Amino acid sequence: MVRNEYTPFLSEILQVKKHTDIEYTFRMAFSGEVKPGQFFEVSIPKFGEAPISVSGIGEGYAELTIRKVGKVTNEIFERYVGDKLFLRGPYGNGFKVEDYKGKELVIIAGGTGVSPVRGVIEYFNEHIDELKSLHVVAGFKTPGQILFLEDFAKWKQNMKIILTVDCAEDDTACHVGLVTEYIPKLELQDKTNAAAIVVGPPAMMRYSINGLLKEGFQEENVWISHERKMCCGIGKCGHCKIDDTYVCLDGPVFLYTKGKNLID
Ligand SMILES: Cc1cc2nc3c(=O)[nH]c(=O)nc-3n(C[C@H](O)[C@H](O)[C@H](O)COP(=O)(O)OP(=O)(O)OC[C@H]3O[C@@H](n4cnc5c(N)ncnc54)[C@H](O)[C@@H]3O)c2cc1C
Ligand code: FES
Repeated sequence: MVRNEYTPFLSEILQVKKHTDIEYTFRMAFSGEVKPGQFFEVSIPKFGEAPISVSGIGEGYAELTIRKVGKVTNEIFERYVGDKLFLRGPYGNGFKVEDYKGKELVIIAGGTGVSPVRGVIEYFNEHIDELKSLHVVAGFKTPGQILFLEDFAKWKQNMKIILTVDCAEDDTACHVGLVTEYIPKLELQDKTNAAAIVVGPPAMMRYSINGLLKEGFQEENVWISHERKMCCGIGKCGHCKIDDTYVCLDGPVFLYTKGKNLID
C-alpha cells in the first residue's frame, strides 16, 4: 500500500544515543526516501507535534537529534528503545549534494544546527573526491554540549574541522571562540567561487554570513536552513509563511539570495 505522506505513521525507536542531558539522538524505523535537511513532524497524542530535522540516514532508519525544550520534546524523552512515536514526513526540500560537487565547500553550524548538515558531511566524508575541499566549523556553548563527537573524530581524516566552544573552564581539546572568529582563517583557493552552508541560531547565521561575504563569498553560493516555527508542515496553516514563501514547502533550505529575507 502506498503511504500517504500527510498521515502520521507509527515508528519504533531502534536506538537512543545520549549526547547531553537534554540532547539525544533517536534512531527511528523508517524506510523510504529522505534527504539531509528535510524534517519529520514528530507527535505524541495529547501532547502535540514538533518539527525535527533528519540528522542521520541509514538502511531502514532515520535519526532525529532532539533538544528537550518543552511539552512535546519532554515527553519524547520519556520514551525508550522499543517504544513508538508518530511521524509525518519527511517534509521540506533538504540539501542537494549536487549543488556542492566540484567546489570548495565550507559548512558552518551552531549547536543543534549540526543535525541537518550531518548527512551532508557524512555523504562527502564518503565521497570526498567529489569536492575540491571541505571545511567544517562547528560551534557549541561549552565542551559538555558538543554533539556528534565520535563523528567529528572520524570526519577529521578527510576534511578540515574546527570545533569551537564559546567558553571553556578547563583545557579543552577544541578551540575557544565564536565560529565567526574562524571564518577569516579558512584557507581556501578561491573564496569567490566557494560554496557555504550556514545553519544555527538566527544571530549566529547573520554574523557568519556577514563574515563570509566580507571574505569574498558570493550570496548565490551560500545556503541556509531556516528553523521557522511551523505547525502543519505541508503548506496549509500559514504559520511558517513569510510574504509569499512557505518555509515548510519551499524550504527549510534556501539559497541566501532568497533566505536573507526570512531570517528573524
Ligand atoms: C524545520 C525545523 C527543524 C527543526 N529541527 C530540530 C531538530 O533537529 N532538533 C530539535 O531539537 N529541534 C528542532 N526544531 C525545533 C523544534 O521543533 C522545537 O524545539 C519544538 O517544536 C519544541 O516543541 P515542544 O513542544 O517540546 O516545546 P514548546 O513547549 O512548544 O516550547 C518550548 C520552546 O521552544 C520554542 N518552540 C516551540 N515550537 C517551536 C518551533 N516549531 N520551532 C522553533 N522553536 C519552537 C518555544 O518558543 C519555546 O521557547 C526544528 C524546528 C523546525 C521548524
Ligand atoms: S507550517 Fe503550515 S503552512 Fe508551513
